[in-house]
Amino acid sequence: MNLDASSPVLGYQSGFGNEFSSEALPGALPVGQNSPQKAPYGLYAELLSGTAFTMVRSESRRTWMYRIQPSANHPAFVKLERQLAGGPLGPVTPNRLRWNPLPIPVEATDFIDGLVGMVANSGAEKPSGISIYHYRANTSMQRVFFNADGELLVVPEQGRLRICTELGRLDLEPLEIAVIPRGLKFRVELLDPQARGYVAENHGAPLRLPDLGPIGSNGLANPRDFLAPVAHYEDDQSRTTLVQKFLGELWGCELDHSPLNVVAWHGNNVPYKYDLRRFNTLGTVSFDHPDPSIFTVLTSPTSVPGLANLDFVIFPPRWMVAENTFRPPWFHRNLMNEFMGLIQGSYDAKAEGFLPGGASLHSCMSAHGPDGETCTKAIAAELQPSKIDNTMAFMFETSQVLRPSRFALECAQLQSNYDACWASLPATFTPNRR
Ligand SMILES: [Fe+2]
Repeated sequence: MNLDASSPVLGYQSGFGNEFSSEALPGALPVGQNSPQKAPYGLYAELLSGTAFTMVRSESRRTWMYRIQPSANHPAFVKLERQLAGGPLGPVTPNRLRWNPLPIPVEATDFIDGLVGMVANSGAEKPSGISIYHYRANTSMQRVFFNADGELLVVPEQGRLRICTELGRLDLEPLEIAVIPRGLKFRVELLDPQARGYVAENHGAPLRLPDLGPIGSNGLANPRDFLAPVAHYEDDQSRTTLVQKFLGELWGCELDHSPLNVVAWHGNNVPYKYDLRRFNTLGTVSFDHPDPSIFTVLTSPTSVPGLANLDFVIFPPRWMVAENTFRPPWFHRNLMNEFMGLIQGSYDAKAEGFLPGGASLHSCMSAHGPDGETCTKAIAAELQPSKIDNTMAFMFETSQVLRPSRFALECAQLQSNYDACWASLPATFTPNRR
């Protein structure tokens, strides 16, 4: 009997990094041990380890699942003819790049078909680095997917998604984000006719909340606003295609059941979502403004203290009150590599050309900052408290140089005149007048 599969009820558990637990049938979760001789309801116990067994406790991520069929019940995977779009990485370029939004295909395209690789700084076999994709979709996945190459951070720009995972369901809309652990099986369904957004694939240490230092014990993204799903299983014996990405290649096999068949689970290696509107934005109340790290939602650290493999940073609506201050992001050259996207509205450093669904890349030591028009206005502005509203830009920031894919360098959406936005900066130097 299918007890739960058709239930539209969504439940969430709040917190970050907790030992969550959930059961879709009462008593399905074994008590006091992980792998009893006979699991309740005739389920199979299975462990999903997101980190090495011997990681220090604070780093360890693992989840116990109690499922109708163990994941091991599958035939051999065969390399798929249709691979991820985007192609191999192209030549290195130190240039600043900016893209218009990619169109959503007309032909039927699910979340996996519509992933297109834009930039990457590591092969998937390396234990660090990131790859960044756009996704475009107009069809719900009929298949189930897992990514052996890293965890996925999904940032919708258009269209609501239902992410059905082994551990339960997450409904996601623009201005929310979701993180799916490495290896966790999921299916992306569309709740609107089409969907578009961004995906960061994190090959390094799992994302977590940044330390807060002198900020104290509250602020930025608060743990209780992160939502993990509750158990939801499909007791379904229909033929299901299971696809995995393994070292960048798509491989598939046919199952005689749905692999989203986990009836109960407990652990801290879980998918989760977060509403960016709940970010407690902090900033200056005197002069200047802090480094943009003050806007970090999630971070994947490297072994070097303070050096991120991936920072996910947002630029949300906020009050600007700094006195005697050049208020837009300052001109700068950064050790880190910045891939930016825009979820809605406009971004305060650019007057035009940076569109929702578009992207920009500023690599290590490339000079950037507000465009000419924004800069001129900011210097002339009469400074009153003002609110930047209707905006949500974000940045995937990483310590290793990102190389664009061939697609990213050759697509029609690459802007040919991005450098021109700084060419109109007027010469205002007057050596005889301070
Ligand atoms: Fe920057």
